[in-house]
Amino acid sequence: MKKDKDVKAKDEKDIEILNPQQEIAVKSPDLGIIVRANEICEGWVNDQKQKTIFDYPAIITCDWHIPHTSVEWSERLGRVALSRKGDNERFPNLAIVGDFLDEASQTKFLSIGPTFTLDQELQIGSVVLNQLLNYFERIYINLGNHDMNLLKDLGKKSESFFSREYAEILFGRMLDSSLINTRVFISNLKWSESRDGKWLICHPDNYSKKGGNVPVEISEIYMKNVIGGHGHHLGMQRTKNGLFWGIDGGGMFNEDSMLYKIANITTHPKFNNGFVLLNERGEARLYGDGLEFDENQ
Ligand SMILES: [Fe+2]
Ligand SMILES: [Fe+2]
Repeated sequence: MKKDKDVKAKDEKDIEILNPQQEIAVKSPDLGIIVRANEICEGWVNDQKQKTIFDYPAIITCDWHIPHTSVEWSERLGRVALSRKGDNERFPNLAIVGDFLDEASQTKFLSIGPTFTLDQELQIGSVVLNQLLNYFERIYINLGNHDMNLLKDLGKKSESFFSREYAEILFGRMLDSSLINTRVFISNLKWSESRDGKWLICHPDNYSKKGGNVPVEISEIYMKNVIGGHGHHLGMQRTKNGLFWGIDGGGMFNEDSMLYKIANITTHPKFNNGFVLLNERGEARLYGDGLEFDENQ
């Protein structure tokens, strides 16, 4: 008898727990808390986000990988800027879309060949940026994956990478503070846009062996023309609807100086140098390895 009573009591308890109304009352979240959490995150993102917007004409470069930078392509960039500056003292706008610094000293990967310290890279980067300011009125800088190596080494979290401080401290160390936000505009994002919204320039996390594949896929998603860095190769593709361009713009690196690239054999395509000019009307011209080079065109 005692046993039956115990069993009944247990059954009643089970039924009580399985009551749907009670389940909802106990487990449904407090929506007010979610709203507040959203407000905190959105507020932090909006406060920290440093989006940059550039005007035409602009030259879009990427992947300088300092100190492994191509002198030949730096000079070509300067020649195009000079030939197209018109009556201006300098060409109006230059974009550097990620991987300005190599930061090999900051990675966990095995180093091959001489390693430059971060301070040495910053010294060389300072010389390059200040030289570029002789040719360009304004410079816009976005982060690339290599620019974030420093942060990974410090073991910080991704939110720190996104903070205003990181990008400004890293790139600000190469420039006189009077230049920041007057002639040099630093973003903590891996992308930027033209003022008319027709061009998205970015340093994507994706990679494809076929030039143009990644930027044209991004074009399909965002319904804009796209210039992408990170691929280290060249390619121009039209979106399926024929409305937009996706361009892999090569890079400003010197492949022969990048010993990890020389020492290894992979199935990746050969690196290609290049950059993209967006003229006064926002029309693109790709300068790159294997393409006819004429700074006046
Ligand atoms: Fe790169
Ligand atoms: Fe990259």
